[in-house]
Amino acid sequence: MPDGHDKVRRGTTEDDITAEVLARFSETPDPRLRRIMPALIKHLHAFVKEVELTEAEWFQAIEILTEAGQMCSDKRQEFILFSDTLGVSMVVDLIDHRKPAGATESTVFGPFHRLGSPDMPPGGNIAHRDTAGVPALVSGRVLDLDGKPIAGAVLDVWQTQSNGLYDSQDENPNELHMRGKFTTDREGRYLIRTVQPVNYPIPSDGPVGAMLKATGRHPWRPAHIHFVIMADGFEPVTTHIFDRTDPYLDSDAVFAVKGSLICDFHRHETPTPEAAKLGIAGPVFTAEFDFVLQPAGATEQVNVLDAQRRLAALGARS
Ligand code: BEZ
Ligand code: FE
Repeated sequence: MPDGHDKVRRGTTEDDITAEVLARFSETPDPRLRRIMPALIKHLHAFVKEVELTEAEWFQAIEILTEAGQMCSDKRQEFILFSDTLGVSMVVDLIDHRKPAGATESTVFGPFHRLGSPDMPPGGNIAHRDTAGVPALVSGRVLDLDGKPIAGAVLDVWQTQSNGLYDSQDENPNELHMRGKFTTDREGRYLIRTVQPVNYPIPSDGPVGAMLKATGRHPWRPAHIHFVIMADGFEPVTTHIFDRTDPYLDSDAVFAVKGSLICDFHRHETPTPEAAKLGIAGPVFTAEFDFVLQPAGATEQVNVLDAQRRLAALGARS
């Protein structure tokens, strides 16, 4: 045997392979990547060994991931759906967004945020094309941890139409609908006109839907409205408010419900004075929710917004 070739035991056992792969990552220059890659290899190899994965199953997994990638566009993000339905998004959320007491908790971003939603005046109607839904007024304040109002905070809001679909799932997906950016006034107040949020199934015509079906899981999310709230000098928060009466609060397909984000939507058979001022004639729902932001700390949270924008831009290139 040529010199040196007898020193290395190549691929004798599964554990030899794992050790060899781990060694190959030991010189990774970036310290964070040097932590992440070996941990990923250890867990991935342990998983394969634990379930004794067959080659056919591994090829099937590759097929599923390929199909997921091929489905992605600016209107569809199958990998976020996988991350959300496998609970990974919420584990990351809980680790990366530990909040001081009193600060509004975050939850999943989801795959339906879009860039370029319009600036809206107070009371602006994000549901201007939705004639079937019951009008709803969502109002409240954006506050700091001491309860002081934050003027000029921006609330980027998105929601499904009353048919349970986002605008990007419509026949003409290029027209923005059910989206708007609202800015708080001097007292930190905001007022959003929309329609009553409804529960809806997440898209299940792709590999995520197949996974849910094969494992006996339902695809439903409880009724909610999405928010990203940003203000200078404060950590942005990505969150939802949920309707307290929704039957899916305890079985959200993406595990995103936190008790502090559950909100009362009150039905009024005749318009409240504020609703009448906005020209709402019939029944109306009102909901009040105050958001509390913590002061900006590390640059980490700004990176979250950057990552969200990069994801949206990635879709927009397709
Ligand atoms: C959403 O609420 O828009 C959503 C979140 C996670 C997965 C699918 C949809
Ligand atoms: Fe949603």
